[in-house]
Amino acid sequence: CGIVGIVGTQPVAERLVEALKRLEYRGYDSAGVATIHNGALARRRAEGKLFNLEKKLFDEPLSGLTGIAHTRWATHGVPNETNAHPHFVDGVAVVHNGIIENFSELRDELTAEGAVFTTQTDTEVVAQLLAKFTREGLGHRAAMLAMLNRVTGAYALGVIFQDDPDTLLSARSGPPLAIGYGKGEMFLGSDAIALSPFTNEITYLVDGDCAILTRDGVEIIDFAGNPVERQRQISQATAYVVDKGNHRHFMEKEIYEQPEVISHALSHYIDFAEKRVKDADPAIDFAKLTGLAISACGTAYLSGLIGKYWFERYARLPVEIDVASEFRYREMPLLPTQAAIFISQSGETADTLASLRYCQENGLKIGTVVNVRESTMARASDAVFPILAGPEIGVASTKAFTCQLAVLASLAIAAGKARGTLTVEQETDLVRHLIEMPRMMSEVLNTIQPQIETLSRDLSRFKDVLYLGRGTSYPLALEGALKLKEISYIHAEGYAAGELKHGPIALIDENMPVIVIAPHDRFFEKTVSNMQEVAARGGKIIFITDEKGASASKLETMATIVLPNVDEIIAPMVFSLPIQLLAYHTAVFMGTDVDQPRNLAKSVTVE
Ligand code: G6P
Repeated sequence: CGIVGIVGTQPVAERLVEALKRLEYRGYDSAGVATIHNGALARRRAEGKLFNLEKKLFDEPLSGLTGIAHTRWATHGVPNETNAHPHFVDGVAVVHNGIIENFSELRDELTAEGAVFTTQTDTEVVAQLLAKFTREGLGHRAAMLAMLNRVTGAYALGVIFQDDPDTLLSARSGPPLAIGYGKGEMFLGSDAIALSPFTNEITYLVDGDCAILTRDGVEIIDFAGNPVERQRQISQATAYVVDKGNHRHFMEKEIYEQPEVISHALSHYIDFAEKRVKDADPAIDFAKLTGLAISACGTAYLSGLIGKYWFERYARLPVEIDVASEFRYREMPLLPTQAAIFISQSGETADTLASLRYCQENGLKIGTVVNVRESTMARASDAVFPILAGPEIGVASTKAFTCQLAVLASLAIAAGKARGTLTVEQETDLVRHLIEMPRMMSEVLNTIQPQIETLSRDLSRFKDVLYLGRGTSYPLALEGALKLKEISYIHAEGYAAGELKHGPIALIDENMPVIVIAPHDRFFEKTVSNMQEVAARGGKIIFITDEKGASASKLETMATIVLPNVDEIIAPMVFSLPIQLLAYHTAVFMGTDVDQPRNLAKSVTVE
């Protein structure tokens, strides 16, 4: 979820919605705005995308110089209008990002005292507690602190009271919050990007901060009421609006942008003239490490999985990797001689951030491979490895994935160089391939679209699809399946090709196409054997390979997509392209909302 708030000198409703548009990546199940006007709270809320809220506000505008707003990714309670924020109880309005973990006990307790709950959300307990403490005679600030001392869990809160249109209260315990300074106005937002149209002077709250915003400024206190000092800084977040150019969807645009953004990302890590990698950020001394822990979620996790192959192969550095939601609770023994790398497009994903903190508490140096450079993760790291993909709007990650891979490949080579596990010749050879990559990717993008479109039409008729790959093509098979299921809603699974015989082979029949990702690499013959096993059972094969692979395999397939021959180090990025386009065109045929698929969010800031 994303939250914003303004104590302003001009009407705020429109500006709140403008800020929400920049937070839609955090969820789009419902949205709402509340303002105080003539001593009373008023709100507009709508189920679904922000566009629905805008229509509502157009028909029924809201006045008021103070307000809060919210875009929701549903946790507790279905995403209907009743459960949409802001929540009102007796003159208090609340917006919340996160989860109140003890909401059920609090709800029972408050209900026993006579409170009447009108929503299924966990957030309503915050509003009920504030209303109760106010009724009992506490001032707003005291009521806020009393409430904060009762709730547990993760939260970023924005609160207004109808009898005080000059104040906006907020608190943070987990999800990020930024305070923005305007001229006679103050702003609150889940990130600096949301506030970028209004101000670039920002203070980030830390966990345990409660902020009281008035038109004159902000006062920050801890949950015991003691004043705390937080630094004011200039944000680099820009207010520019990203458009789709000539493309139907942001996802399509982002797929086609890859050669350009990857080249940009590579230039940060590689000396093109010397054909050498630049030395990595000294905050992480690869030469001295005994191991690396990598963690991330979703697509970013899959790029990490490919990174593991590279760090182990080129730098002989053992890598421990897990999805962040498991990593954070595994109680993994960690040594200060290891370093941890977190991968995140947004830099805000709650589970990844929690894993980062866990490693930090264990004394590890932290590096983040991140797109949003002012994100919470980037700010918490010892070394930031930017992926320079530019804003990624499509919820299904494409260019961020391949840029993460380009950065991880460069870092693995830099680690190999630092550890003496790569010779200068080997390093130069690998770098030469990386330099070739943007051109290879352009070549692929310029040629494969017609074939992929035809194939996608066929694929859209199936209910289940299996992806297989070996080596770095295995995580790519997982990514292919993830991409297809998240945007086309076709059930898809990715498997290590060698695991086929241990289970999924039972599913093979003419109703489940098997997409085999197999560049002509060290494992090619083995993967072809697995393809034989599929063919022998009447399975339909979609074979994604390169020219050498296509001429080496004599198997009959439903389709063969032939890419140029590429070196093993760049194959994952080049082979990502047909996988992304296949998912994209299949989703277009299915008529889904490609850029904002149902139930997903671009960045999930709850556990
Ligand atoms: C969400 C998105 C995925 C993304 C994952 C991790 O689930 O829908 O596309 O891969 O979060 O996001 P991050 O911003 O940490 O890379």
